[in-house]
Amino acid sequence: PRGEPLLGCVRELRRNPLDFFTKQVREYGDVVRIRVGPVYVTAVAHPDPVRHVLQDNARNYNKQTRGFAVIRELLGQGLLTSEGDFWLRQRRLAQPAFHRQRLAGFARTMVDTSVDLANALESRIATGQPFDVAEDFNHLTLRIAGLTLFGTDVGDESRAIGEALGRAQTFANERLTQLIPIPRALPLPSHRQFNRDVATLDRVVRTIIERRHQQGGEHHDLLQMLMEARDEDTGERMSDTQLRDEVLTLLLAGHETTASALAWTVVLLSRNPDARRRLEEELSRELGGRAPTVEDLPKLAYTRRVVDESLRLYPPAWIFSRAAIQDDVVGGFRVPRGTFVLLLPWVTHRHPKLWNNPEAFDPDRFLPEHERERPRFAWFPFGGGPRQCIGNQFALMELVLVLATLCQRVRLELAPGHPFAPAPAITLRPRPGVWVTAARP
Ligand code: HEM
Repeated sequence: PRGEPLLGCVRELRRNPLDFFTKQVREYGDVVRIRVGPVYVTAVAHPDPVRHVLQDNARNYNKQTRGFAVIRELLGQGLLTSEGDFWLRQRRLAQPAFHRQRLAGFARTMVDTSVDLANALESRIATGQPFDVAEDFNHLTLRIAGLTLFGTDVGDESRAIGEALGRAQTFANERLTQLIPIPRALPLPSHRQFNRDVATLDRVVRTIIERRHQQGGEHHDLLQMLMEARDEDTGERMSDTQLRDEVLTLLLAGHETTASALAWTVVLLSRNPDARRRLEEELSRELGGRAPTVEDLPKLAYTRRVVDESLRLYPPAWIFSRAAIQDDVVGGFRVPRGTFVLLLPWVTHRHPKLWNNPEAFDPDRFLPEHERERPRFAWFPFGGGPRQCIGNQFALMELVLVLATLCQRVRLELAPGHPFAPAPAITLRPRPGVWVTAARP
């Protein structure tokens, strides 16, 4: 358009990407072409084009985008970032670890670790002192991912991992919006810090693998499946690098997102006392003070709706991207090959044409009768199509069990004087944290 600044919208995009994309879609429609520095990207916000890109025409899209390039600098070629036959082999290998029966076996660990946290939170009731519950959730979900997937408690590392990951995400974001990517080999202070942070994460992965070698005995978890898998053609085991990439991917993808969802749920419940009361009533009616089990899950319908609504308003994966392999038409607009397409749960989940009063927290939107009225991709916190989140059901079960365990025993209230905001990096986290006080429900 006329009057467009030379570098497109880079500055606005950097300042506040959530508002930036929301405004673009409100002003220009559900499929918009946006100039970012030297390139054009196409952002899609309507469920039909989202479905087209992720599912119906998924074969025409890959992950050779700048967003995934910066994630690859951290995760290498694991399940999230790899492509083609290689990805498919790894996905088939990992899939059995996420089958329904396997997940049911994780419920106990999810609840036991949540009970540990509930005990710690209860002991803070008497002090009345505020604390950062986002930090507690990092610790909790890291323990759960480590124990269920790799048979190792990495809880002691949660602070180091959280700090490394926080910085790495900021760095990745900087790189993503650099007009010309600066070669990583240059010994800049930010590059050296990133290398140190990667080394921290590598150390955790090495610990996980070494402990397995020391443990001996039989194991049936994801780690064992990855370690024992052999290539159908060559009969070879996975290389150390490949194993590292898969373990790190699952550990990070498996805990950061869920911790973020829990932190936002606490925020929303504290701001919506009516919903919180209904949640507490359901828990006391269905559980009567005991810890939940996997059999209780179908009964905890309101708790589940709270989770769904929280993932709508604060989708941890608020943006992700694809590149068009061949020319395509998306929502009536031409998408030339090579175009980067942005999928934006944040924008779609708050789209006024899809959601009544979209900013309001209303778990009953997810009652079955209302769900039937909405197109499939109006809500897609886990993506969709062949590259849909492998941990989708794992995460939903974990979120419900953690909330059911905690909310029966403590009520968390936002502490005044501790402002925070959504920090949109690779994931959407409340920064600098969620400071709360604990009370009896
Ligand atoms: C992929 C979101 C929890 C592991 C994805 C994708 C999204 C997502 C949107 C698709 C990305 C794309 O299409 O480019 C979330 C959210 C979670 C969550 C919001 C929690 C609330 C988990 C958990 C695990 C996990 C618990 C593992 C235990 C993965 C993996 C992939 C993935 C390995 C790549 C799958 C593939 O391409 O084959 N996740 N995720 N995620 N997620 Fe999750």
